Amino acid sequence: MSKLWGGRFTKQTDKLVEEYTASIQFDQNLVHEDIEGSIAHVSMLEACQIITKEEKEKIVNGLAAVQKKVDKGEVEYSVENEDIHMNIEKLLLDEIGTVGGKLHTGRSRNDQVATDFHLYVRKQTENMIELLTEVQRSIVIQAEAHTDTIMPGYTHLQRAQPVLFAHHLLAYFWMFERDKQRYEDSLKRVNWSPLGAGALAGTTFPIDREYTKEALEFTQIYPNSMDAVSDRDFAVEFLSISSLVMTHISRISEELVNWSSQEFQFIELDDAFCTGSSIMPQKKNPDVPELLRGKTGRVYGNLVGLLTVLKGLPLAYNKDMQEDKEGVFDTVKTLDGGLRLLAPMLKTMQVHTDNMYKAVAHDYSNATDIADYLAVKGLPFREAHEVIGKIVLYAIQKDQFLLDLTLDEYKQFNPLFEEDIFEKLDPKHVVKARNSAGGTGHKQVEKQLQMAKDLLS
Ligand code: ARG
Repeated sequence: MSKLWGGRFTKQTDKLVEEYTASIQFDQNLVHEDIEGSIAHVSMLEACQIITKEEKEKIVNGLAAVQKKVDKGEVEYSVENEDIHMNIEKLLLDEIGTVGGKLHTGRSRNDQVATDFHLYVRKQTENMIELLTEVQRSIVIQAEAHTDTIMPGYTHLQRAQPVLFAHHLLAYFWMFERDKQRYEDSLKRVNWSPLGAGALAGTTFPIDREYTKEALEFTQIYPNSMDAVSDRDFAVEFLSISSLVMTHISRISEELVNWSSQEFQFIELDDAFCTGSSIMPQKKNPDVPELLRGKTGRVYGNLVGLLTVLKGLPLAYNKDMQEDKEGVFDTVKTLDGGLRLLAPMLKTMQVHTDNMYKAVAHDYSNATDIADYLAVKGLPFREAHEVIGKIVLYAIQKDQFLLDLTLDEYKQFNPLFEEDIFEKLDPKHVVKARNSAGGTGHKQVEKQLQMAKDLLS
């Protein structure tokens, strides 16, 4: 088969070279974007009187016919045609004959592939924002059901201070909110149009880049044609934001794995999201959160991979840049699938509120509140801290909790203690008392929940 660029060559391409350098195996993923970009381009060519109305119509109809065949799965791509751009062009030529050859006037595959990729990343960025919103909805549903559920809050994975389960969950709401903001912000740059930059230097045809920018709903054109064809920052940004999303997914996954363990027994994941063991009949494994945690690695890898591809490249287009796509596709697949699982898994998990409460009732996480108690009565906090440290040690040695000690015992450590210390030590009070802005106190959490709901509505 003769190549679209075959004129200058006297020999056939080596088969192995053809295989190795082709991208059609994966860039067929861009078929819709490629056709969309071509229709915008050819419409512009006509508007600028570079081709006739009749030629434009033939090409647009031809592209629509190719699109239809693609949708029906009737198209066979070939490695000989290297990539999606030349495959589509070949299919167009088969469809409408030589007039199809006018499609590529004033255009290069370099601005074409950049355009396709911008369109793809934009679509997926919007997709991720929607999927993250679904996860946030699940978080809000669970938080709303647990504005009275008290659990241990941890630092160093040691019991620290009791918190509301709603508060703990909502922390993730805000992480995902910032992720959405990052994706939103990145759209400003994803929406730069490279189309019309040509191979690198622009074109001699009197094209109108503003026309294609509008047609493809971009917000501005790249002011520099060399930058336009060699910029992949927008893809790096997508991978970088997605990496951070995976960090957040991985962290909440780790919590789900912990909480569903026999050691914690704070939650039970729905059977639909767990799997069993082929040897141990009792097992119910949290495979989904484990795998989400594990898949974080490949997304980070994709980010580092693309950064590394780009770091030594001179301007403008280099074939290396064909390596920009697979990592992005893989990231999309990983995130899209992951977020689609995370949302229902969070929504359906059972929360063992009694176990959570039992945990805070049998620990020393109310110790800070005794220190605060003495500090309110005038003892400098540092001194109070020291006194309570001794009380905690005393209680541990007696194998008792702070609520089990008597007022007389408290008074031995400091005469400022009164009967009201016991209500202050009740975990419910401990939580309620943290009423500073953004704290875990009920009033604050209600406020926070309302903010979250407002953002979703
Ligand atoms: N398949 C190529 C890529 O993905 C398209 C651009 C090819 N341009 C070129 N001058 N070889 O980067």
